[in-house]
Amino acid sequence: MCSDKFKLPTTSSFPRVMLKEQFELIANQYVKRNKSLLMNYVTLNTVLRSLGKIKNKSVLDVGCGNGYVCRKFYALGASRIVGIDISPKQIELAKHSANNNKIEYVCGDATDLKNIVKGTFDIVTSISVLNYIEIKKELGTIISNVFDKLNDGGKFVSIVVNPDIVLPSSTKYGRNLISLGVDRTKIADLEEFKIEFFDNAQEKIFETKAINYSRKTYEEFFLKAGFSVKWIQPSISTEGLKEMGKQFWEEFIANPYLVAIEGRKK
Ligand SMILES: C[S@@+](CC[C@H](N)C(=O)[O-])C[C@H]1O[C@@H](n2cnc3c(N)ncnc32)[C@H](O)[C@@H]1O
Repeated sequence: MCSDKFKLPTTSSFPRVMLKEQFELIANQYVKRNKSLLMNYVTLNTVLRSLGKIKNKSVLDVGCGNGYVCRKFYALGASRIVGIDISPKQIELAKHSANNNKIEYVCGDATDLKNIVKGTFDIVTSISVLNYIEIKKELGTIISNVFDKLNDGGKFVSIVVNPDIVLPSSTKYGRNLISLGVDRTKIADLEEFKIEFFDNAQEKIFETKAINYSRKTYEEFFLKAGFSVKWIQPSISTEGLKEMGKQFWEEFIANPYLVAIEGRKK
């Protein structure tokens, strides 16, 4: 069970749900996103290509949700896997999934990593998490906490919404981004926007609000924490190319929904 400290709202009538708390409300729907083309053929492929060998490495997954990515790391032979998430329901779902006794799941806020996760790691990941940290200062805290949790030479790979995406982008990849700002074709630094999630049959499954950070904002926080920074364009897995065909992905490659930031601790 998660600590009482992290009891999050359980109904949408909660007066003001913070962006980072939305996943408590949609935990059951969110499981469907594990099956999405984007997750399986793009996000995971991009993260795993950036990380290289996982076998015998220790991995911390920040904002692990229902543990989908932790289970992938387990399958790839990681020596220790810890998943942390602020949502008690997400952690509960993670614990009930396969391999749950091999992976350590912790409920807590990533702004408090030092106190809630023991030890250091070869790899830290955060997949689609940083766009939900609406307080800019907290984004800096999390990135610097991650730096402290890494061994020397360790890598932090984070998947974020492409800060430079041109809207509207195609919904055929299972996402629709809606700018809430004045310019409906770009999302400004620190601007809130809406993400609609669709299943592979193009049925809408849920929506979230998120915040956009510019490349410059991310870079500043990574450098300030002590990382060297590299941006990585998303790549489609061999299976994704085979199943959907190269042409299917062309629009995505031209205007990707997501990008990866790789931070290395020298
Ligand atoms: C879009 S979901 C991604 C889940 C998982 N990484 C995946 O890709 O399946 C974002 C997750 O980040 C978690 N989260 C957001 N802010 C957090 C914070 N400050 N500390 C820990 N977890 C956080 C949310 O509860 C949610 O489960």
